[in-house]
Amino acid sequence: MIGALRKHFGGNLHRLRSKQVLRKVLARETNFSALEDWERSLSDPTSYYLDCVRYFHRSQFPDELKMHREYFLQDQRGFGEDAFHVMWWMLFRKLRPNQFLEIGVYRGQTLSLAAMLQNDLGITGHITGISPFTSSGDAVSSYRNDVDYLADTKTNFAHFALPEPDLVQAFSTDSAACERIKEELWDAIYIDGNHDYEVARTDWDLCAEQVRTGGIIVLDDSAVDTAYRPPAFATAGHPGPSRVAREVDQARFREILRVGHNRVFQRTA
Ligand SMILES: C[S@@+](CC[C@H](N)C(=O)[O-])C[C@H]1O[C@@H](n2cnc3c(N)ncnc32)[C@H](O)[C@@H]1O
Repeated sequence: MIGALRKHFGGNLHRLRSKQVLRKVLARETNFSALEDWERSLSDPTSYYLDCVRYFHRSQFPDELKMHREYFLQDQRGFGEDAFHVMWWMLFRKLRPNQFLEIGVYRGQTLSLAAMLQNDLGITGHITGISPFTSSGDAVSSYRNDVDYLADTKTNFAHFALPEPDLVQAFSTDSAACERIKEELWDAIYIDGNHDYEVARTDWDLCAEQVRTGGIIVLDDSAVDTAYRPPAFATAGHPGPSRVAREVDQARFREILRVGHNRVFQRTA
């Protein structure tokens, strides 16, 4: 009982503190053209991240994308952070990925954002998601079990009048999922499924072969041991994906962008 009360009040306190910190962050002026300097996201990841947060809230960031984020914040439909919408918007504008793959879909926030960005930017391609579509978690995450994740993801796509994506109901390490990943060379892959090191590393190894040269892999939750210092409303991620990021073969991949705990690696060879 005392534990539950402590958790409840601790959670409320954290939410209050997060709001205060966000207000402070948004009160500061910034130069938005500086977001185009992706090198700065590597050399000064914290201030770059805060600029992305400001860009989402205060500038000419498209209303449709803000509303998309707002929708997924309701009813706990999604995780993520506002700044990640800015990151995907920058990536799609600059790299225009045709074949997009996400490992770990949850309720379809990023997957539908990718579909929306392809639509808005006139990119022809397709969107594929691999996920168990259950409450299956890992050592650091647990998910509610009162949701039909597959039906819900489809409903969320329909809400934004987006065509149904290709959804593979499987763990990324299942043979059905591996076969699907091997079927093509992807332009962009988002790894955000199981955060345990062994699984995240297995995901990376297969995706590293199946992303085309010049394509990107975005590794979620992978900034624990970097210079990035998250504000109260954000996190640096988890040890498993962070270790995978440390082990990335630099002869084949170059880190090109970092937004909070999302790190973007481009295949160079
Ligand atoms: C943090 S959530 C993903 C959030 C989602 N990427 C987004 O941006 O909205 C992680 C998801 O991965 C799923 N998952 C867990 N283990 C997995 C695995 N081995 N392969 C694929 N997905 C997995 C979970 O059930 C959950 O839906």
